[in-house]
Amino acid sequence: LRGEALQELQLVDTPQQLNDLRVKYLGKKGALTEILRGMGGLSAEERPIIGQVANDVRAAIESVIDKKQEAFRQAETNNRLLAETLDVSLPGKQLPSGAVHPLHKVAQEIEDIFIGLGYTIAEGPEVEEDYYNFEALNLPKNHPARDMQDSFYVTDEILMRTHTSPVQVRTMKAMNGQTPVKVICPGKVYRRDDDDATHSFQFNQIEGLVIGKNIRMSDLKGTLLQFVQQMFGAQAQIRLRPSFFPFTEPSAEVDVTCVQCGGNGCRMCKHTGWLEILGCGMVHPRVLEMGGYDPEEVSGFAFGMGVERIALLKYGIDDIRHFYTNDLRFLNQFARM
Ligand code: PHE
Repeated sequence: LRGEALQELQLVDTPQQLNDLRVKYLGKKGALTEILRGMGGLSAEERPIIGQVANDVRAAIESVIDKKQEAFRQAETNNRLLAETLDVSLPGKQLPSGAVHPLHKVAQEIEDIFIGLGYTIAEGPEVEEDYYNFEALNLPKNHPARDMQDSFYVTDEILMRTHTSPVQVRTMKAMNGQTPVKVICPGKVYRRDDDDATHSFQFNQIEGLVIGKNIRMSDLKGTLLQFVQQMFGAQAQIRLRPSFFPFTEPSAEVDVTCVQCGGNGCRMCKHTGWLEILGCGMVHPRVLEMGGYDPEEVSGFAFGMGVERIALLKYGIDDIRHFYTNDLRFLNQFARM
């Protein structure tokens, strides 16, 4: 019986077969059990001897069964581990992800620089009242300078803002005559222009306004130089050209050295070495007055810069339409910058 059982056990190769054999030999109706049951009919001398033999056989069979079982368990665990193996060296799946738009990125950089200089951010509506966009900025109705900014009117009194300067007015009114005022106002502006490489009916500006005691033109110039050098590098310089805006006096337009050619002259700066990036000036006394300030007590400066212009210059892009046509080949170049 022992030989037979052990031989059969050698051939087992599934846990099911092993269990069948356990039943066959050791089960309630198993062969060995049968023998043990038949021991009642043996003599007193035979019983311990046969009993001893039967127990040895049982132990031998059990030990083989246990070993086999352990082997199956091992194999199963191994298989499971194998099946669950992760190859961590495989390249991951590339999920398509968006990226910050270059214009937004530049606007954020500009904001960060001014926040670092102690400015806070103010915002205003893109659909604006004529009063804030023009009147309160010293551009009364029929003022010829309104033609500087051909406007989209919604009604007689409502238009798409042509610049971010109306936020100057809104900020002054909200401040109720308090100083200091130190804000920048980013946002979209709209003008009735035909789109081309340097014009768009919609573009982005960032306005700046500072009001306080003894604010002077030199403060404006120092602020802008600081800004430009943080934006374009320490070698960047600015120059102020006298200009005219109804809401500032004196007024200036500011050029920055062309960072694309280092000021040596290239297509980007039309071979002048300079690129115009903003308009600015000392806040006009009439504008201060309309904003609720006494021009005898306080003074201020303001500037308005074109975000597209700064992005063009920074990245050496020759056509602002690239910013709006959403060509991924263009946009993806900025994804990792
Ligand atoms: N609002 C002017 C423009 O759009 C720029 C400007 C802002 C000029 C503030 C002076 C002061 O061109």
